[in-house]
Amino acid sequence: MAGNLDAPEAQTPKAGHPEEHTGFYVKGAESLDWGMKNRLARIFNPKSRKALMMAIDHGYFEGPIAGLEQVDLSVAPLLSHVDALMLTRGMLRTSVPPWFRQSVVLRASAGPSILKELSNEHLAVDIQEAIRLNAAALAVGAFIGSEFETQTVLNLTRMVDLASPNGIPVLAVTATTDEDTPHDAKYFRMACRICAELGAQFVKTYYVAQGFETVTSSCPIPVVIAGGGKVPELEALTMAHRALGEGAAGVDMGRNIFQSEAPLAFVRALRAVVHDGEPPASAYKLYCSLKEGHTPQG
Ligand code: R5P
Repeated sequence: MAGNLDAPEAQTPKAGHPEEHTGFYVKGAESLDWGMKNRLARIFNPKSRKALMMAIDHGYFEGPIAGLEQVDLSVAPLLSHVDALMLTRGMLRTSVPPWFRQSVVLRASAGPSILKELSNEHLAVDIQEAIRLNAAALAVGAFIGSEFETQTVLNLTRMVDLASPNGIPVLAVTATTDEDTPHDAKYFRMACRICAELGAQFVKTYYVAQGFETVTSSCPIPVVIAGGGKVPELEALTMAHRALGEGAAGVDMGRNIFQSEAPLAFVRALRAVVHDGEPPASAYKLYCSLKEGHTPQG
């Protein structure tokens, strides 16, 4: 079809009116490509810049732990309240409906069960499978200081090499099976920094009460915290609030959500902490009200 010379002319920006350049808000991601940024933005909320992730991948080395016996039943009511769900492909295909609109962070390393040396992991998901499953990110264990440390570091770098050309970010999941390693800020500083240096786009680690701000400040990519073992709800909300105040970019909690007395009430209270900066006491009040079945006013 011939062009229409009578069509309205394209407008050019007014002289002296600079074009807007908006920096990208996810730490360390400014120079990444559009697809990678878009996937990160599906995990880290553009308004709060934080992420509420729920980890339900425990079964890949522990089997059906409490709260995850029937994932399709226990997790379904929580799905719309989180930004991302971290899980294995098996549970995704069997137990999560494909109309799930939040992001999938796919567990991509595996190996031994809790009956063996956990750090002996290998990559367990092919990149084509991750694309098929529309993964927003891939999670790989990095067992810094453990028996198979080097192998897991190579899992991480290999996955970064496979995922990057496809615009898929990699979440490094720090862990250690070495009982003699103190789980303190010094260890987590080293572990998180190693993961960032090796190309991960974000890292998951544990919160420590002393010096956590040095873990986040010395890590050039976002740090999200695991919840660890189940603690009382107020304690878990307090830990999340402190971690965020000390530079964490979000939480990736499992047991403290799905093993809560009232998982839906808890995840909503946690959301208020993560995205609205709600102090722990008022978030706990919200949790109690929702647990009792009321919607608090004001
Ligand atoms: C660790 O390797 C897995 O990702 C865990 O499933 C996850 O970190 C545990 O989350 P939480 O400690 O909050 O139960």
